[in-house]
Amino acid sequence: MKLLVLYYSRTGNTEKMANAVAEGAKSVQGAEVELNYSASPEALSSFDAIVVGTATYHHDMPLGFKSFFEEIAVKNISLKGKVGAAFGSYGWSGEAPKLVIEILKNKFEMNVIEPPLSIKYEPDQAGLEKCKELGKRIAERLIHTA
Ligand SMILES: Cc1cc2nc3c(=O)[nH]c(=O)nc-3n(C[C@H](O)[C@H](O)[C@H](O)COP(=O)(O)O)c2cc1C
Repeated sequence: MKLLVLYYSRTGNTEKMANAVAEGAKSVQGAEVELNYSASPEALSSFDAIVVGTATYHHDMPLGFKSFFEEIAVKNISLKGKVGAAFGSYGWSGEAPKLVIEILKNKFEMNVIEPPLSIKYEPDQAGLEKCKELGKRIAERLIHTA
């Protein structure tokens, strides 16, 4: 069972969340976890779950994720039925993880875990625990549906 945590973080807050999500997922026996800030669209085919971490900038997700999703669509890479989730740090409005979930669900027909996990600015200990729980929940969903 392979799980990818793919994230974008400019000042490190979402990165801290990503590390904790990966840690939580790794705690589930049988889950192989990759943590990365970039991936090729083709590489996604080998994962059973794709978890996207994204900070919100200018009420949006970063351009890098938009072009990444566009490339997956253009190349017709199927993510149908894979488990999807999203999380991210934000300051006041936090649109990005919600937008990502909508795309994973409606465009790529993934089996998404909702709602996304959003944390204001830097995650504190309680926030990091929530991230670990999310990672664990995703990995457990994979193991149980295998
Ligand atoms: C230029 C700029 C624009 C931002 N725009 C938004 C925004 O539209 N909505 C929001 O919720 N937070 C916004 N933020 C706050 C960031 O989402 C917040 O600082 C977050 O913790 C950054 O996460 P990162 O450290 O993972 O990059 C903005 C921050 C900056 C510097």
